[in-house]
Amino acid sequence: MALSLGWRAFAPFPMNHCGVFVKAMRSSGLPLFPWGHGPRRGVRSLLEPEMKAFLEENTEVTNSGSLTPEIRLRLLTPKCKFWWERADLWPHSDPYWAIYWPGGQALSRYLLDNPDVVRGKSVLDLGSGCGATAIAAKMSGASRILATDIDPIAGMAITLNCELNQLNPFPILTKNILDLEQDKWDLIVLGDMFYDEDLADSLHRWLKNCFWTHRTQVLIGDPGRPQFRGHSIQHQLHKVVEYSLPESTRQENNGLTTSTVWDFQP
Ligand SMILES: C[S@@+](CC[C@H](N)C(=O)[O-])C[C@H]1O[C@@H](n2cnc3c(N)ncnc32)[C@H](O)[C@@H]1O
Repeated sequence: MALSLGWRAFAPFPMNHCGVFVKAMRSSGLPLFPWGHGPRRGVRSLLEPEMKAFLEENTEVTNSGSLTPEIRLRLLTPKCKFWWERADLWPHSDPYWAIYWPGGQALSRYLLDNPDVVRGKSVLDLGSGCGATAIAAKMSGASRILATDIDPIAGMAITLNCELNQLNPFPILTKNILDLEQDKWDLIVLGDMFYDEDLADSLHRWLKNCFWTHRTQVLIGDPGRPQFRGHSIQHQLHKVVEYSLPESTRQENNGLTTSTVWDFQP
């Protein structure tokens, strides 16, 4: 994952005052942790009791401040120690799974409001993070779901979030599947995945392949990040719906005000 600029350069608030940890991640796109290129630390097994305890201790259960109050999630909030803590004290890889990103919020809202899009269908949520969009697909009646993320801790967080919403956990795969041959999926959803130019190029190639091989429908949620707006995939998108973001999501995403669901039509 390529980092463009140092996180401190973008921080809109005094870094010694508040929200150091989260603002480092949100203020300039996404992946602006000082350790962003480093090895992933501290992850052994998905279901280790001490990891579960760590997640429960360092997140808050919330359903407020997002587009989908129907979904409860364990997230990093101002009530959590690491919201205020120095970023370099966090002992694991960048916790993207602890944020409910605006792209995922828009996709999830759309799936909850339009269950026909997923009912009885197989759905792959790529870069699932906290798992909210996969959870929305499950709530709306998808027949088969796979949530994938390259971060093993995301897998644990998704499992906990399924339990929070009284859902049996669906399969979760914590590896990069972009170089693998794909199963046939009726629908692939991607929330806030176009935050890095190289990743955007890989996703674009992979999505074209899925579309032309299996005629898979692809829905992308994005709040208008520069790496998405400036990418050639723009010529192959049809706007489905645009949502106004809740105030707290705006504040935490550097002034982004809306998030849009796009249908990919190469
Ligand atoms: C900005 S977060 C979005 C999470 C979630 N979709 C949402 O909208 O809340 C991007 C997620 O993509 C994951 N990711 C990055 N590259 C990936 C890849 N090649 N395959 C699967 N997941 C990936 C990250 O670990 C992270 O959890």
